[in-house]
Amino acid sequence: MMGKRDFDVESARNVIAAERAEAIAFYGPDGETATAMLPMLHALQETFGYVDRAVIPLIADSLNVSKAEVHGAMTFYHDFKDKPQGAHVLKICRAESCQSMGAERVVAHLAACGHKADTTSADGRLSIETVYCLGNCALSPAAMLDDELIGRFDEEAADSVLALAKEGR
Ligand code: FES
Repeated sequence: MMGKRDFDVESARNVIAAERAEAIAFYGPDGETATAMLPMLHALQETFGYVDRAVIPLIADSLNVSKAEVHGAMTFYHDFKDKPQGAHVLKICRAESCQSMGAERVVAHLAACGHKADTTSADGRLSIETVYCLGNCALSPAAMLDDELIGRFDEEAADSVLALAKEGR
């Protein structure tokens, strides 16, 4: 999540054009609409850390589709974020297995420490995101810090995450 560049429309336009060119090269002109939208959204998120809503008309123009279609794709896939994320992202599983093993207690603990679920801290250091199953049910409650899975995610582990996020690493 770190090291993303600030969003600007010109760079977004370039990312979109590059993805469109790639789709045409690979699938031919007929495949571009169906195949290019998701790669475009992924590339934009990869570049800027989120998908700014300002790209909706740009993608719509590029692929000759409606803005509603682009908006629909953006909102259907939960992986696309429409706001900048924190330097670190903590995903907490709140599906059944993890709930039954105390995930809500950890969520409440984090909230009591000033880090509510599905928000980004004011200093931009940490985003906390609710997810439903990380495929780590055997080690419920499960969490994921950036790309690292954490099993048996308890209050103590949550405190370590907060300390790490605060350290500015
Ligand atoms: S239910 Fe939480 S990891 Fe599967």
